[in-house]
Amino acid sequence: MLIRKLNDDLRAAARALGYPEDKITVTYSDRPDLCQFQCNGAFALAKELRRAPIQIAQALGEEFSKTYGYATAQVAPPGFLNFTVTDEEFSLLLSDLLKDERCGVEKTDDPKKIVIDYGGPNIAKPLHVGHLRSAVIGEALKRLCRFLGHDVVGDVHLGDWGTQMGLVIAGLEERYDLSYYFGGTGEKPAITLNDLNEIYPLASARSKEDEAFRAKAQEATFRLQQHEEGYYPLWQDICATSIADIKKDYAALNVEFDLWNGESTCDKYVDPMIDSFIERGFAYESDGALVMDVVEETDEKPMPPIILRKSNGAQIYASTDLATIQERMETIDPDEMWYVVDARQGLHFEQVFRCAHKTGMVKEDTVLVHVPFGTVNGTDGKPFKTREGGTMKLKDLIRIISEAAGKLLSEGALQQDPDAPRKVGCAALKYGDLVCNRNKNYVFDIDKFVQFDGKTGSYLLYSLVRINSLLAKAGQPDESLPLQISSKEERDVLMKMQLLATAYGQAYTEKLPSFLCEGVYDLANAFNVFYGTHKIMSEADPIRRNTWIALSAAVGKMLEQTLTILGMETVPAM
Ligand code: ARG
Repeated sequence: MLIRKLNDDLRAAARALGYPEDKITVTYSDRPDLCQFQCNGAFALAKELRRAPIQIAQALGEEFSKTYGYATAQVAPPGFLNFTVTDEEFSLLLSDLLKDERCGVEKTDDPKKIVIDYGGPNIAKPLHVGHLRSAVIGEALKRLCRFLGHDVVGDVHLGDWGTQMGLVIAGLEERYDLSYYFGGTGEKPAITLNDLNEIYPLASARSKEDEAFRAKAQEATFRLQQHEEGYYPLWQDICATSIADIKKDYAALNVEFDLWNGESTCDKYVDPMIDSFIERGFAYESDGALVMDVVEETDEKPMPPIILRKSNGAQIYASTDLATIQERMETIDPDEMWYVVDARQGLHFEQVFRCAHKTGMVKEDTVLVHVPFGTVNGTDGKPFKTREGGTMKLKDLIRIISEAAGKLLSEGALQQDPDAPRKVGCAALKYGDLVCNRNKNYVFDIDKFVQFDGKTGSYLLYSLVRINSLLAKAGQPDESLPLQISSKEERDVLMKMQLLATAYGQAYTEKLPSFLCEGVYDLANAFNVFYGTHKIMSEADPIRRNTWIALSAAVGKMLEQTLTILGMETVPAM
């Protein structure tokens, strides 16, 4: 990568001059029309060296030029140092990128073990649009971390142990003879997915009005959490039915988990953990509930105590999250745990993380982070709903966007890959989500997302299809011929490839896949400008033609690599 090379060499020049090299950093140029790279270090050095920035820049530029010929260094008042790289160097870069399996993206030299907790669906409730972002963002982050060389475990962390389970059981009791589970003579009831989907909303609404029903549901939750006979096997069957369906939805989205753990997985850790909090004086009773203070001196906002156990003894969200941390420390021992969860759960995670650190459940340097995201809104700016105003199931959403994408695909594309509508539809949906900074809400606009032109997933897939069909016609680059970069458009493409390689690191550090989305879009655009101005198929000069084919192949590889990390599936034709 040129930026690294320039940085190292300019620092060497600084050392030769006796300047402190740590102030020297080469960056991509703010003015790509003037030069490709720049260094503003002369301003930072001016004070220390008691010299004018322009003189320092001058000296650095001269020293650099004495040794290195691959870039010209030009001083611009009042002290910028601008670098323009030679075409020979760009040609070498292309040759390197072509050979590099990773398209210039370096592996980390500090690999971490990271658990990414994402998805977070609840058993017995169908996945809906609210589950989209966690799955899409979490999957992209997981793939990115893995590509960079981190050891990553993705955990779906099912909501399978809370009060909703008691509600479903209480609802089922009214619909079916459940004596099979409770030592009676009844046959095993055939509980279907449909039952579950219907029962949960009904039971949830009813528990708000019908006290007896609510008490029954609470009782069922409590008994389940005690692993009581009857309740536990019934719950296992409910989970199996629900998980099979959840898996289908995630598969359609090209989202995979390493662990299908849930809130129930950490169950055996909860009571001993809470006992130890009490013994060590961390937890105390308040209004019948067991709580812990997590206030810190620097707090500017009120920080309520974390509730660990309710008065009825039932486990709650915070205690299952805490026990899961303990379970992960014992079974996985990660350096970091990332929670890709809706921004509205910010307080919950702040409390949980503080509690985990305060009680020594994790190491001092264990990183626990909430990776929050905003909501998915409709074109009316309000949270996305169906036309009728209901919650849109994820299945329906995928179907609708696949149909919309399918309408834009050619006959040939549909023949070559009958699954192309889903792939293109889901790629469009994912890109539409990932391209906006996850902290913000975004407008879910199916028609816009599937368009082939514009900043869309379809556009990117289409750019790749075009490159692949070009290579199919023109052949692969000929390694026996030299590469010769000579035009602005070619250089622009190579600059965007380097910028995209840098974006991998930014996306990781900021936990923002949007950096990759921007970078890959800029690369596709630069490529399409190059493609429109360089007539590859009709070019007679073999070296020029081969260089262009090589450039196309390198871009194709990098597009594919990046789109795959974003969780998008590519297609052979569109
Ligand atoms: N099931 C939860 C919900 O629907 C989300 C779980 C998020 N992950 C976690 N470790 N708390 O709100």
